[in-house]
Amino acid sequence: MKQYLQHNPWKIIEDSFHPEFNEITESVFSLGNGRMGQRGSFEETYSGKTLQGNYVAGVYYPDKTRVGWWKNGYPEYFAKVLNAANWLGLEISIDGIVVDLHTAKILDFYRELDMKEGFLFRKCKIELANGNIVSIVSKRINSMADDESVAYSFSITAENFSSKDVKIKAFIDGDISNKDSNYGEKFWEEVKTGFGQNSSFVWSKTLKTGFEVYTGQLIKLFVNNQIQDLQAEKIQQVKYTGLNYSISLNQGDELTIQKFAVNLSSENHKVSTFEQKGQDYLNRIAEKGFEQMVKDHSVAWGRKWAINDIIIDGDIAAQQGIRFNIFQLNQTYTGEDERLNIGPKGFTGEKYGGSTYWDTEAYCVPFYLATAPQKVAKNLLIYRWKQLDRAIENAGKLGFSKGAALYPMVTMNGEECHNEWEITFEEIHRNGAIAYAIKDYVDYTGDRKHLVEYGWEVLVGIARFWAQRVNWSEDKQKYVMLGVTGPNEYENNVNNNWYTNYIATWCLKYTLEVYQEILKDFNSEANQKISSTNFTQAEITQFEHIVSNMYFPRDEKRGVYLQQDGFLDKELIPVSGIPAGQRPINQNWSWDRILRSVYIKQADVLQGIYFFEDDFSLEELERNYNFYEPFTVHESSLSPCVHSILAAKLGKEDKSYEFYNRAARLDLDDYNNDTEDGCHITSMAGTWMSIVKGFGGMKVKNNQLHFKPFLPSHWNSYAFKINFRETQLEVNVGKKGTEIKILSGPQIEVKVES
Ligand code: BGC
Repeated sequence: MKQYLQHNPWKIIEDSFHPEFNEITESVFSLGNGRMGQRGSFEETYSGKTLQGNYVAGVYYPDKTRVGWWKNGYPEYFAKVLNAANWLGLEISIDGIVVDLHTAKILDFYRELDMKEGFLFRKCKIELANGNIVSIVSKRINSMADDESVAYSFSITAENFSSKDVKIKAFIDGDISNKDSNYGEKFWEEVKTGFGQNSSFVWSKTLKTGFEVYTGQLIKLFVNNQIQDLQAEKIQQVKYTGLNYSISLNQGDELTIQKFAVNLSSENHKVSTFEQKGQDYLNRIAEKGFEQMVKDHSVAWGRKWAINDIIIDGDIAAQQGIRFNIFQLNQTYTGEDERLNIGPKGFTGEKYGGSTYWDTEAYCVPFYLATAPQKVAKNLLIYRWKQLDRAIENAGKLGFSKGAALYPMVTMNGEECHNEWEITFEEIHRNGAIAYAIKDYVDYTGDRKHLVEYGWEVLVGIARFWAQRVNWSEDKQKYVMLGVTGPNEYENNVNNNWYTNYIATWCLKYTLEVYQEILKDFNSEANQKISSTNFTQAEITQFEHIVSNMYFPRDEKRGVYLQQDGFLDKELIPVSGIPAGQRPINQNWSWDRILRSVYIKQADVLQGIYFFEDDFSLEELERNYNFYEPFTVHESSLSPCVHSILAAKLGKEDKSYEFYNRAARLDLDDYNNDTEDGCHITSMAGTWMSIVKGFGGMKVKNNQLHFKPFLPSHWNSYAFKINFRETQLEVNVGKKGTEIKILSGPQIEVKVES
């Protein structure tokens, strides 16, 4: 855990430079707007530890799978959102010495991420090797208002010197490779480079997938706020263009470089229009000016905060944490493009390849359901509906048939691209989360038509998979599910993972319920849909038989569900017994030792009880929580939020708060020692759930919103807004009680339990 960032309600502040944590800070200070994003690296040269990362949504590469021992069924590739052209490029040298915070002496340093207005700001003073002192002030946005554009303003002041030799090179570097490239290959080739008036571009194309991206820059230079009419020397190299300027500065002069940049993707534009559109776009934003761009951007953020913000009174660290999570979620996914999804690291790093995981359905859908227009969550569901054929193909590759669908663990286009057998073939519970999200969406929105239009086909494919994946055990006289990995990835190839058996059975049951419901409510359309899936009476009988005869491992003595067969053979030593300094265990122990240990990476049995809370009594929840939580190391970011919600339900308010805080500040405090890889974007939606579903006790039951709020003991109050169907509500929980206001839309009745 690292605590070098200052607490502040709206800002993340680093008030003295920590080069040792620079890659963590770069992750935390990432900017994005749903279309693209980049890590918070410095604009200018930095020769210290850094991971430059620029990502364009939907632009990926199928990196050839790398495994030691090939197994039939492995996907051919692991899809990666590509590190794309670096548009930030800036090199400044003064009297031959490059401005570089790694080599200069740092006299003063401050940088902040302003979450309210969505910009990155830095102010620092450095001394170069020859004694020249330079002040730097920079500000950067990834425009929310004009979502294919980015811009920064970068000023240097000559504090104690004059120089006739100030050189500025503003460049775009398209010769970029992913840090996580499997074979050290580069994934981009050049299509064209070129120049305009104080502008240049690099137009590149991804190998294999053929995505094309035009990255353009336009430069404006000012001295003491006076625009300079300078001619640039043009530098043209492969996948690279630069604009060189030379200038003199007198002592006290401030030189400002404004860079306007755009990224156009072939996903959104005809490539034949790239050059014209790119240049027009650059001219338009440059004419608008940096200050106006910043204003428009801040207005767009204001609109988002108006519905998304959670206000906590009495705890700045918690306030900063939740805002940071909401900020990053909004930067990652706006829901405007149904082809896109939510990568676990968003635009903040390369790990997990920017692909879609079960995280979206299990963690993110509830956030978007409550805080964004209905179409946003619907788009996430339609994304999977569009990929149903691929899920059927995927199941086919593993030997399943007759329309059985296995959604991928990791995907860009519907095809599975994860390549560890214990996850690819065995972590099949992901299929359940996709069905669960359909129910979640329909319960929340009341959009029952969705079931016949999209839901049925997905559900029946998933249900068919489960029906084929179980087998009848003569010994147990029950259906069993062998060789799986549950949500707890610290166990592989187990039999009868309770969670997987439970969600599989639920999927079969729910599919049968939906079958009845759509036939009743949308008869002719439903008949058509059902017959297009060739669903038969024999399948109904088969599903019913499995539902009534599924095996669920259980320990009668303790009254708990067993995570899997044989769980009790383990040495039941709680996490508190792990010697200090050996955590996280995934960075200190061999995989063999982890697999044999009792330690649980993330909610597993408890994930099931969380999803299906109405199926279990509070006593059952308590017994299972008390049994499993002490063995849980929470080394997946997806874990603390679920525990926070369950602890709240059990009235363990301090525990609930502790888990919330861990979830909310996971990246700000680098809790799991891995933020340098990028921020944990998908679990950020879980943080939001900790407050709204945990502390607020919000749930939907029989078409009605319910709350059961509590106030963490040292908070004065908290308030959040949610959309529920046509109505927008504000919930305010304070020391005197809970107030719920309707902000807009029709009156609704909600239930508040104390
Ligand atoms: C978790 C998975 C999750 C993935 C991406 C892993 O560490 O165990 O449940 O899907 O991260 O967030």
